[in-house]
Amino acid sequence: MEASEASHQIIADLLEARTGQHLTESRRWRVNSALAGIFRQHGISNVDQLVCLLADPVSGDLAQEVVEALLNNETYFFRDKPTFDQLPGEILPELASRRKDVRRLSIWSAGCSTGQEVYSLAMLFAEQAERWQGWTIDIIGTDVSHRAIATARSGLYSQFEVQRGLGVTQMLRHFDETPRGWLVRDDVRRMVRFAQGNLLTGQHPGRIPFDLVLCRNVLLYFDRQVRGTAFARLSGAVMPDGFLMLGAGETVVGQTDRFVPTSRRASFFEPVTPPLPAALQKIA
Ligand SMILES: C[S@@+](CC[C@H](N)C(=O)[O-])C[C@H]1O[C@@H](n2cnc3c(N)ncnc32)[C@H](O)[C@@H]1O
Repeated sequence: MEASEASHQIIADLLEARTGQHLTESRRWRVNSALAGIFRQHGISNVDQLVCLLADPVSGDLAQEVVEALLNNETYFFRDKPTFDQLPGEILPELASRRKDVRRLSIWSAGCSTGQEVYSLAMLFAEQAERWQGWTIDIIGTDVSHRAIATARSGLYSQFEVQRGLGVTQMLRHFDETPRGWLVRDDVRRMVRFAQGNLLTGQHPGRIPFDLVLCRNVLLYFDRQVRGTAFARLSGAVMPDGFLMLGAGETVVGQTDRFVPTSRRASFFEPVTPPLPAALQKIA
């Protein structure tokens, strides 16, 4: 193995150890461009020099900076609009009828990036304010990236970001224009919370289980085994009569037996309740 090949492997291993993300050969070409800012900042020009810096005990947060730079944080408001439209149309009314006694819905967006997915959900509720009056809506977004979560918490987006996925009416209804950018309004913001966390490890965020869990465009960067771990974690976080929502084109079929597709609704999946142990079946 050439020096830089070995160094690339060290960087790939670092990313995988901290996030579960697998840098396939086809994604490795991105490494140098993704790390260009870090190279510049530290006055270096290649991954070999970066690996030397990482080995220095005083490198501090450099390893986390490298991981952050390699994560793909691509997201925008109401991503996969046809799927999102099924929420107010079908999924939320169904959940509402199941929770009408407690009048509470809790939702987790795992791998929420800079928050657009979470705020899009909250906008759906804000746009039907009368329908949800008297309900507690609790939406938590988590991401392994500290930087993404800081942006999500700020609720502040550039003109470019705010235009991606939102029409002018929605933009003006849910954001205030400020000298620093477009700021999410309080009626939307009060439904959401954000926390940094790796969906593969540690405690689940908030109060589990959730009525709806979104994990969109995250699992595709895991290898098969890690994806299995992720599905196990997600199945432990969804109510038996709740839903898992994946990204457009993502599925559980052939990936896990912990979820099954819902009839006629692409991207929404139901958890499979494990059968009761034989001894309990007799008394159930
Ligand atoms: C492509 S973005 C998708 C964002 C959003 N869900 C969407 O579909 O628009 C993937 C996000 O998953 C996050 N991520 C990757 N591995 C993760 C892990 N193990 N735990 C939590 N978040 C993770 C990344 O930091 C990134 O922000």
